[in-house]
Amino acid sequence: MKTLPELLKQISHGVYVISVCDGELSNAFTAAWVMQVSFSPLLLAFSISPMHRTYKLLGRSGECAINVLKQDQTALALHFSSSNLNKMTDHEWQFAKTKSPILSESSAYFDCKVKQTITTGDHVLVVCEVIDAGYLEQGKPMLYCETGDMDGSSQFFK
Ligand SMILES: Cc1cc2nc3c(=O)[nH]c(=O)nc-3n(C[C@H](O)[C@H](O)[C@H](O)COP(=O)(O)O)c2cc1C
Repeated sequence: MKTLPELLKQISHGVYVISVCDGELSNAFTAAWVMQVSFSPLLLAFSISPMHRTYKLLGRSGECAINVLKQDQTALALHFSSSNLNKMTDHEWQFAKTKSPILSESSAYFDCKVKQTITTGDHVLVVCEVIDAGYLEQGKPMLYCETGDMDGSSQFFK
């Protein structure tokens, strides 16, 4: 018998680091709720809690990068899921067209401009247009179902 959090892990998601830069300030967070929502224009969407520090920066910059994590990058997923204020140091970043930070260790990135935001329950759905994309390093993408309860989601079903 599977619990509801375990059943939700049956919905396939990858694991990403979504990074934002607003002037001198930058931040990034681990995200699994990411999907393509249009071919033309090419739109991706992700769901973000408005309580996240990254959300406040995103509201100001209107730009972000969606970095794809590889299967063996559990430590990175854990690192960017923390509320630590200095998550960006000790990692190498590149800057793409929108000036969002691109995580050099990721396998691929999508450089995006925010087009629409929709409040959906306790999260905000952010729809972004892909301005640029690139492949950095080969590797199978990490799957959300492989992260166990790293996001602490089981606590929401107690
Ligand atoms: C595997 C995993 C997936 C996550 N997916 C999301 C997500 O899709 N949306 C979200 O808002 N938070 C998600 N989180 C939680 C954030 O990464 C976490 O709350 C983080 O501390 C927010 O960082 P910030 O406050 O510095 O922006 C996820 C965490 C993990 C470990």
